[in-house]
Amino acid sequence: MKLTKVTKSFGTKTVLSGLDLTVAKGESLVLVGQSGIGKSVLLKHVIGLLKPDSGTVEIDGEDLWKVSAKDRDRLRRKFGMSFQEGALFDSMSVGENIAFPLTRHTKKTKKEIADRVAECLDLVRLPGIEEKRPSELSGGMRRRVGFARAIALQPEILIFDEPTTGLDPITTDVVVKVIEEMRARLKPSAITITHDLKVAFGIADRVGLLSGGKILVDMTPKEFEESKDPRVAAFVTGDSELAPPEVEPERRKAATAAEAHP
Ligand SMILES: Nc1ncnc2c1ncn2[C@@H]1O[C@H](COP(=O)(O)OP(=O)(O)OP(=O)(O)O)[C@@H](O)[C@H]1O
Ligand SMILES: [Mg+2]
Repeated sequence: MKLTKVTKSFGTKTVLSGLDLTVAKGESLVLVGQSGIGKSVLLKHVIGLLKPDSGTVEIDGEDLWKVSAKDRDRLRRKFGMSFQEGALFDSMSVGENIAFPLTRHTKKTKKEIADRVAECLDLVRLPGIEEKRPSELSGGMRRRVGFARAIALQPEILIFDEPTTGLDPITTDVVVKVIEEMRARLKPSAITITHDLKVAFGIADRVGLLSGGKILVDMTPKEFEESKDPRVAAFVTGDSELAPPEVEPERRKAATAAEAHP
């Protein structure tokens, strides 16, 4: 998976600005960066939901935006994406949720699909809950059902957008262990966005910091933790004084005023 000089603007706002990024086969990259900096926008470029203004996105050497629409669909199926909160269909059972991509994109029989669903639930440590409704599950369980659906089609690249946000530390630990097990058994490449550095260090081969429209820093977790780079230190210590401003000073002033006089 390779992004070369990717640039993307919305109106006058440039979010990605000549961004380069390579993820090798089987490698796990964790992306960190301030809210609103463009992490989700970057992921949407990786999976082909957004088209860059300029630059290229290559999957296994194929340019996502030079191939036919049919081939683009084929390339997109190499990804398994897990959204925040699992993004499950509440009107379907857990089993139907996981079966959804299988019925849609494969010619598997009912029995084969049921077997694969059971296998995926096993892998996320939730065996036998096919008949349950998503609404009956806790946040951590929903997240893991989302993973099960993301791996149903045996993706080569797994994408996690904030897999542990809003979970307590123990449930977070379970989710991290599940991600590790999935990676050990399926050996996919993985790109994970998280604000939780403990999570990042638990699952990353490399940590990239997104800032100013580029991957500014690209290090091993250990290098990241020990880095003297002020932008990294701001992240590791959570010191906002060290960090670049999140919003322009004018907007920040307005936001502070609005907070004071709601
Ligand atoms: N479809 C769109 N149209 C216009 N602007 C957009 C669109 N998608 C994202 N943006 C803008 O791009 C910027 C980056 O958004 P993005 O969602 O990637 O941030 P993020 O780093 O994922 O933040 P968070 O950590 O809060 O999830 C924001 O200013 C957002 O308003
Ligand atoms: Mg985001």
